[in-house]
Amino acid sequence: MQILEIIEQSTPLGVIGSPSDSFEAVVDILGISSEQKLLGELVFFTVPEGENTIVSIGQITDIRTENKWHEEPSFKAVIKRHGSLPHLSGNADNRIAKLTVQSSFKISEEINAHKLANSPSTGNKVCAVTNDIMVQLLKTSTQNQIVEYLGCAYDTEVRIPFWFKHFGKDTGGAGDAYHIGVFGKTGSGKTTTAAQVLKGYATNKNHMSILVLDPQEQFYTDTELLPDNMSFKDEVIKKGMKYKAIKVPEDVHFPDDPEVFSELLRTSGFIRKFFNITTEEKQIAMCESISEYIETRILYTKKGSFLGTVNAKKLLEDILTRFLEHKTETEKKQKCSRYFASVYAPGAQRNIRIDLMTDKLDALKKEKALKEVSILENILALFSSSSNKISLDDMVHRVVKEKGWLYIINLSTRGTHNIGSDNIQALLIKLITKKVVEASEELYSAGDKSNCLIVMDEAHRYTNSTASDPRIKELNKNIIDAVRTTRKYGIGYMFITQTIESLDEEIIQQMRIFAFGYGLTMGKEFGKIKQIINDDNAAKFYKSFIDPSSNKKYPFMFHGPISPLSFTGSPLFLEMK
Ligand SMILES: Nc1ncnc2c1ncn2[C@@H]1O[C@H](COP(=O)(O)OP(=O)(O)OP(=O)(O)O)[C@@H](O)[C@H]1O
Ligand SMILES: [Mg+2]
Repeated sequence: MQILEIIEQSTPLGVIGSPSDSFEAVVDILGISSEQKLLGELVFFTVPEGENTIVSIGQITDIRTENKWHEEPSFKAVIKRHGSLPHLSGNADNRIAKLTVQSSFKISEEINAHKLANSPSTGNKVCAVTNDIMVQLLKTSTQNQIVEYLGCAYDTEVRIPFWFKHFGKDTGGAGDAYHIGVFGKTGSGKTTTAAQVLKGYATNKNHMSILVLDPQEQFYTDTELLPDNMSFKDEVIKKGMKYKAIKVPEDVHFPDDPEVFSELLRTSGFIRKFFNITTEEKQIAMCESISEYIETRILYTKKGSFLGTVNAKKLLEDILTRFLEHKTETEKKQKCSRYFASVYAPGAQRNIRIDLMTDKLDALKKEKALKEVSILENILALFSSSSNKISLDDMVHRVVKEKGWLYIINLSTRGTHNIGSDNIQALLIKLITKKVVEASEELYSAGDKSNCLIVMDEAHRYTNSTASDPRIKELNKNIIDAVRTTRKYGIGYMFITQTIESLDEEIIQQMRIFAFGYGLTMGKEFGKIKQIINDDNAAKFYKSFIDPSSNKKYPFMFHGPISPLSFTGSPLFLEMK
């Protein structure tokens, strides 16, 4: 059936009321629809333009009952006594809805997206959109675009089309990188929604790559990630993307970098325990000394990785031997190696440490088991390049520079408990962020741009501008810098987080797509959402979302150019599949 015929035969649930304009219309609900559920309903109305018909689609974001008799002060006493006004309560009600226009289509020989340039006339019928109407409207207007369906309009069966534009200038591209935010309370369905969105982006297999940083190993294990027991891996491969899920430390090794090594020595508590150093300042100084020593060892390593192949006990013996030696003239004169001298000034503190280290070296040589050796072994295992491990550098370079990869990197770092899994996660994110900047800069200076989406689940753990922990503060700064600089190199970030308030303002400014799940309805969080969507009715609607734990439905408000239906910029309300 032709679209105009379908529209003609649709039963109205209301008519356009007053005042209405091309963005927002008032709908007077007809009596027959007054018991129908209306909030969230996707509806359409038509406006003639010359010889053509414009069909506008919108979502009902507000519904109100008015009864002028109930507002009449002289009737208040009757209501007080009888509880209602005979023949007037209920019967004289007017139900008024507000609809926010999402998009418009011009129906001529073809159907194309169109800007509504007129306001609808009062009395024009307003009818519910059906899947049939949706398919017909989108058939030609999205011909060269890949459209996917992730869910239905809030509390309806009407499937909402989405498109997922890569960051390049070719077909299907947005022409520029942008950031995406997925927000909501714990359990609101953020990770699942993000996975569905990524499944959509995987359609861009010839244009872009995706790297998922997965601290909760939800992507890696791929259980209950997509609804209906669908496998994320299978879906991504079906789209033609190359899929690889890797785990730290089993499948990936750290770079042969003395600074990374010494940072791990410090954050794991090794420096504090082994050298008996309590102040942070001295710990950092000791790390610098060790880093300097390791640097020379790396320099003299003929081939392969030094940290990846060295034995822990042997390395500790070597470090202590050199730290206790007096090799150069200066060292001989001050009776202390430069490695110790740069940490401690001459005096008791230095002598205590030198004695302590002499004892530890003795113990090591006598093959006495030192528990710190096992921490060192675990740290060195992160650098081990044996078997089938891929280097962190290679992985990042591949994702940033090649097209068509979806990498999942499991950051849960199980089995590394005596180094501190949080330490390794933070360090990994810092390293990956740094490598992404380097790789994209290289590509850019060679005259090319990356086209890559980096996904950070549980982002509030790493990028939090209100954090007091100095490590998170530094990491937050690194991430903000990277996000800011790499966008022009074609890199977009997706942040999946429980709080929008702690996310840096500048990152939010560069976001084009927002998905808000249930639960951010309090204070500053809600204030931020209101500020972003700039639509009071929509904000009120968002507030009415029901907790998914009560009905296993996962409502989301999407804002930004994610759907052919949302080109006016109005938020879309959905229930995810
Ligand atoms: N659209 C959906 N359909 C069916 N089940 C879903 C849907 N979205 C989420 N779920 C289920 O709800 C649970 C919570 O979802 P999810 O892990 O995505 O929430 P989250 O917001 O990421 O939570 P957290 O903040 O704790 O990481 C999961 O068991 C998931 O399988
Ligand atoms: Mg999650």
